[in-house]
Amino acid sequence: MPYRRYGDDATWPPEDGWADEAAVPFFHTGAPAPRTRFTPGVASSARVYNWLLGGKDNFAADREAGARLLEVMPEARLAARANRAFLRQAVRRLAAAGVRQFIDIGCGLPADENTHEVAQRAAPGSRVVYLDIDPMVVAQARALLATDDRTIAIRRTMCDPWRIVTDPVIRRHLNFSRPIGLLLLAVLHYLVRDAAACEVVRILRKMLPPGSFLVLSHLLEDGQPQTWLARAVYGEAVVPVTARTAERIAELLDGMEPVAHGVAHISIWLEGDESAGLGSVYDQAALRQIPLVCAIARMPA
Ligand SMILES: C[S@@+](CC[C@H](N)C(=O)[O-])C[C@H]1O[C@@H](n2cnc3c(N)ncnc32)[C@H](O)[C@@H]1O
Repeated sequence: MPYRRYGDDATWPPEDGWADEAAVPFFHTGAPAPRTRFTPGVASSARVYNWLLGGKDNFAADREAGARLLEVMPEARLAARANRAFLRQAVRRLAAAGVRQFIDIGCGLPADENTHEVAQRAAPGSRVVYLDIDPMVVAQARALLATDDRTIAIRRTMCDPWRIVTDPVIRRHLNFSRPIGLLLLAVLHYLVRDAAACEVVRILRKMLPPGSFLVLSHLLEDGQPQTWLARAVYGEAVVPVTARTAERIAELLDGMEPVAHGVAHISIWLEGDESAGLGSVYDQAALRQIPLVCAIARMPA
């Protein structure tokens, strides 16, 4: 799938206990083993991201790590907000295309507008499964969802994609003969090894019925020293991440049909999206510097 640069023309499941959820990675992904305990003294990717978004669900270690990142990449806050704007736009696009069920892997701590809220506003009755490796994320999501029986949150790691693909809780919640929107936003870069990212996406794609959609955003290897530095600082302060070239990211979607901009820089996706709330001249210029690629693709029917 071609990559478009800027300027180109172009219910709480009762059987789901904590104990067995610290899944051992299915294969070597390069990602650190999941923590089995609550560790507020160690920065977590979910809480650092929450802090960048202006949230309150974070601790001193997260704020310190986030501040270190901002020192080398002042646009990191804007990047987080832009990524959420892309998520909202993507969910709206999928809802407009008739999708009524979503799986959001690496969903993150609840933010201003979450996948199930955007989806249900666009298409009442939409069903959502949230998955995240972080127990705090899952606990917060469940608290938010206490009154919503169309949305569930489960603790899973994408490092064990077969478990997700065959999960009976997910199978019961969604209808696998109807299209599904699979969201992998700002999460695949935690799979440090390229082979692992390809394999995880390949396996996850197996569960998608024809006509389903895959949405992703991913840290871009753009050759800029700032991106390299930010990746190094984040890797030391939080967890290792891999930036990938647009071509490598596009390979994850091989055989799928591009939707709208296909695989494109985030600034292209957000251009003219008034609901993104990134309309200032400063935002527009800074957005183009952000190393983030976004994509929407459809499984052939
Ligand atoms: C940067 S946040 C992105 C949140 C949300 N997807 C978004 O784009 O707004 C990354 C999330 O991925 C989760 N995560 C990291 N590694 C994961 C894994 N192996 N399996 C599932 N979730 C993971 C983190 O806990 C965190 O909540």
